[in-house]
Amino acid sequence: MNGNICMVTGASSGIGKATALGLARMGATVVMVCRAQAKGDAVRAEIREKSGSETVDLVIADLSSQAAIRSLADEYRAKYEHLHVLVNNAGVYYTKRHVTVNGLEAMFAVNYLARFLLTNLLLDVLKKSAPARVINVAGAYHAKGKIDFDDLQGERGFDGQRANHQSKLADVLFTYELGRRLEGTGVTVNCLHPGMVATSLVDKDKDFPKLFKYLYRLSKPLMKSPAKGADTILYLASSPEVEGITGQYFVNKRVAQSSPESHDVQVAQRLWEVSAQLASLTTS
Ligand SMILES: NC(=O)c1ccc[n+]([C@@H]2O[C@H](COP(=O)([O-])OP(=O)(O)OC[C@H]3O[C@@H](n4cnc5c(N)ncnc54)[C@H](OP(=O)(O)O)[C@@H]3O)[C@@H](O)[C@H]2O)c1
Repeated sequence: MNGNICMVTGASSGIGKATALGLARMGATVVMVCRAQAKGDAVRAEIREKSGSETVDLVIADLSSQAAIRSLADEYRAKYEHLHVLVNNAGVYYTKRHVTVNGLEAMFAVNYLARFLLTNLLLDVLKKSAPARVINVAGAYHAKGKIDFDDLQGERGFDGQRANHQSKLADVLFTYELGRRLEGTGVTVNCLHPGMVATSLVDKDKDFPKLFKYLYRLSKPLMKSPAKGADTILYLASSPEVEGITGQYFVNKRVAQSSPESHDVQVAQRLWEVSAQLASLTTS
């Protein structure tokens, strides 16, 4: 990965942190995107020390804000000419409905729309850097999801799990639609399920039922470590085996079958159009 520049969102903990460390160890220049300065600084120092790499950069951006995503893209292009790997990983889980500064439901905004906006804003840099790879960290729960175009923001009877499943299905639909749109450009886009990974995703949700939090903590030793959870991402970022492979869903470094809904081209195109409107973005 020497000479490659990789951006990892949500690099301050869990799977994203393990991914950033793995890429740094492979010799890539890593641009960590984190929402908090102090935590980002500490994790960057840890990654630099563990990898022995000096080329680990940090950009602060709260991906729940579209203005912050636009600033992030501007800051990136002011500093770097190329982007070879974009890992859209940052994510949240909320039991109760949270609303972003843009008035959007937070899981829809962070787990999906932020990726849609950031990727589109950086597409010209990715194309210029081809061969380049976009990797979306989705999840197996996409299979339980449905895109509710009548209530995309969960304003009527919010359910945390349903909103989470919808956001993950949106990630897979986005991957497939972007893959179709990028054909012939040398930029590939794939998504994946990292497995059940022992991270702090659920611990951060203050409304997650205490009993389930307790049971979740108890079952952590049975889950994958974040390093194992990053395996498929690192494979998609670096392996020659996936060169040219695009528009696929991976589990354990293998192409896997995603849900029938995720293959609905009409839903994917409609979601793209709605997303472009919500993000005030003109796309071709
Ligand atoms: N863990 C699993 O079993 C599992 C399974 C399937 C899919 N996934 C997916 O894997 C991805 C990573 O999750 P994880 O399990 O590693 O959880 P995690 O440890 O909580 O990591 C999530 C990362 O996203 C960052 N983030 C959250 N909101 C953000 C915002 N508004 N702006 C910028 N960064 C933000 C977090 O920053 P802070 O450190 O500041 O909180 C953190 O770095 C998520 O997309 C998740 O849906 C996880």
